[in-house]
Amino acid sequence: MALWGGRFDGDTSDLFKALNDSLPFDCALVMEDIEGSIAWARALGRAKVLKAADVSKLVKALDSIAERESDPATAKISSATDEDVHSFVERELIALVGDLGKKLHTGRSRNDQVATDVRLWTASAIVNLRRLIALAIDALVSLADAELKKRTVLPGYTHLQRGQPVLFAHWCLAYVEMLRRDHERFGDALSRVCVSPLGSGALAGTAYPIDREALAADLGFLEASRNSLDAAGDRDFVFETLSTIALCGVHLSRLGEDLILYSSSEFGFIQMSDRVTSGSSLMPQKKNPDAAELLRGKSGRLIGNLVRIATTLKGLPLAYNKDLQEDKEPLFDSVAHLTLCLRIVPECVSGITINRDRMLAAADDGFSAATDLADYLVRAGVPFRDAHHTAGRLTRTALELRVPLHKLTLDQMRAIEPRIGPDIFKELSIDAVLAKRDVIGGTAIGQVRKQVGIAKASVKAMLRA
Ligand code: ARG
Repeated sequence: MALWGGRFDGDTSDLFKALNDSLPFDCALVMEDIEGSIAWARALGRAKVLKAADVSKLVKALDSIAERESDPATAKISSATDEDVHSFVERELIALVGDLGKKLHTGRSRNDQVATDVRLWTASAIVNLRRLIALAIDALVSLADAELKKRTVLPGYTHLQRGQPVLFAHWCLAYVEMLRRDHERFGDALSRVCVSPLGSGALAGTAYPIDREALAADLGFLEASRNSLDAAGDRDFVFETLSTIALCGVHLSRLGEDLILYSSSEFGFIQMSDRVTSGSSLMPQKKNPDAAELLRGKSGRLIGNLVRIATTLKGLPLAYNKDLQEDKEPLFDSVAHLTLCLRIVPECVSGITINRDRMLAAADDGFSAATDLADYLVRAGVPFRDAHHTAGRLTRTALELRVPLHKLTLDQMRAIEPRIGPDIFKELSIDAVLAKRDVIGGTAIGQVRKQVGIAKASVKAMLRA
């Protein structure tokens, strides 16, 4: 039975039911709906709308529904045909306590109810995602720490052309930074999720003397919403969560792309573990980086889900409109898929085999110190623009002679720039090149070690919280 039959004579069509019903997906909110209903029953009790004994009966019945629904063996929701999760819970409640169950919805609307449920669900989803981000960071920091001790060097790229060498640990920490910002962004979003819309009624505010602050606190929210018209139709928090998820997904996509490139035969820097790769059904030699490819590929759906909610919200008149029912599936989908992606990151990262020699050979290809050659000339008093030009000419000469920069003889160098001295050669070693980047955020060993320490401490704090 629908919750709203009074003014209707005819039945709704089957087609309408197929279009309109949300139970097939909002069944995921059953625990939140019960939690919100318990808090509402208590709030009605405090407002003297319900007697204390009735409140206890309602709470007990709602608890028993929660217990039954938490076990798939006893849950009824999967075979129910109610319009939505709210109708299901209310019908089950009435089945347990009779007419008293019909009193629960006093002063409440499904509009403030569903907004509350989705907020409760989103808050706990964000708490879980933040934990998974912390674990992904933890795996990256451990890899950074281990490879720092081995002084593993990676060619750094711009435009996917070799640029300057960096420590492999520095590369790990670049992704740590992205994920750290995601962790922070989710925390920030959470403070806006944890606002209670309950008591906003359908749109104008409930007509009963509900202490909305106490109700908000009862639900674990930080405050009560300040405008009923806004609160009943506000899905900014879904938009913000999906946007934060999409950005985190973009970061994982870039991580995936680096792993794919570095594990290709062309690069040959790393090998992904058997646990996260697959073979080809045709080509027996293949080891495909599927997990990394899906880290990259899933970002498409995460961005798509953000566009879904943005498009749904755009142009909606105040306050609640049924369009808002479309908020749930993108939200659930994005949370589920980002969860999977984040969970696979530690497995991908900790299982990497690193081909240090090949990485070093690529980093030390004889040209990645070209910037340092220019810097050497700057120290000899040459303006940087001219030094850059000279280093470029020396590079061209070396390329023509098919030797690395440091294999040019001093005479060959001096023919182009007489201010070059014999001390140039130690400038061009990879160790010297790395050691010079000794600024905050630079790739010198000491700086990276410091950043590993900072990252370790912050991940510890994240996991403690
Ligand atoms: N299933 C609905 C949703 O997800 C619940 C709210 C229904 N509100 C209403 N006024 N019909 O949005």
